[in-house]
Amino acid sequence: MGKLTIKDIAREAGVSITTVSRVLNNKEEGMSQKTREKVLRVMEEVNFQPNKLARGLVTKRSNMLGLIVPNISNPFFPELCRGAEDEANKRNYSLIICNSDDQSQKEENYLRLLQEQQVDGILLSSKNRLSKTSKNQLQSGKIPYVLFDRGEEASNQSGVFLDNERGGYLAGKHLTDLNHTQIACMTGPTEIQNSQQRLLGFRRSLKEASVQLPQSFVLIGDFQMESAYRLAKEFLQNNTVTAIFASNDLMACGIYQAAHELGIQIPDQLSIIGFDDIPLVTALIPKLTTIRQATYEMGRKAIELLINEIENKSSEGVVFEPTLIVRESTKKLKRGVDI
Ligand code: RIB
Repeated sequence: MGKLTIKDIAREAGVSITTVSRVLNNKEEGMSQKTREKVLRVMEEVNFQPNKLARGLVTKRSNMLGLIVPNISNPFFPELCRGAEDEANKRNYSLIICNSDDQSQKEENYLRLLQEQQVDGILLSSKNRLSKTSKNQLQSGKIPYVLFDRGEEASNQSGVFLDNERGGYLAGKHLTDLNHTQIACMTGPTEIQNSQQRLLGFRRSLKEASVQLPQSFVLIGDFQMESAYRLAKEFLQNNTVTAIFASNDLMACGIYQAAHELGIQIPDQLSIIGFDDIPLVTALIPKLTTIRQATYEMGRKAIELLINEIENKSSEGVVFEPTLIVRESTKKLKRGVDI
């Protein structure tokens, strides 16, 4: 038997080609359940495989979405992708996941590829601010897009972000509430807005508690574990602090490793607080106190907004609140001394 067309299905089911097309594209408003079931039964009996390209030409939809993240090797992003993919699949969309490796050129190449694949929409966590090229590609391609996690929080643009300044503030306040006064901060890359915001919030909480943050106590990290280890080892050999705020959990892991090698006990001699609450951190000993992002839900929500953009042309910006998760890696001091 040659390849069946929707014309064959219509004839077998005794309905019009339009009816079969409407069943194929889930546009069954006003259609009787009996007719719908008859068409689906015939399709199943002949194992009908609709021509996706032809279907896309009719509906102008591919039912595919693109997602670009800046660093798939960081456990934060797979958690984000998990939430995004579950919501996409629930809404009958496939998801193409791309990794830009924090490189604008790769990001631009993937944007071009996704447009060539005729995705219905794009979810983008840019390295930081969208490059001019990326922005032009998105706007000229007339493909709905939503920014999430990173990229400017333009008010007229759908996006899902965290209140990073609040997150940095919560981290600093937790440490000053525990009477720490000799505190260091390891930031992410300074060009990334998330890092800048977290440091701003951290500075605000220390200022409120009249705790100084010398510039030498601000360590410029890159959100990676390896360099955080080297930075922390060098810093801890030459400085005495009782607490460090790491702007993401991976860097907190690097600080753990450095402290262990230097024989520094966590939290008795050094309190550490991270940021993200990636699943991995509950395996650390002692368990890491951190600032939690509702990462899975952020990914899910971003897809929900993108599909709303595609199907209803609605735009919405959503800012998630961070939460402090106190575990075992931070300790209260007597006023300036150990308890
Ligand atoms: O850990 C990676 C960081 O980059 C996370 O804090 C997340 O906000 C992303 O931007």
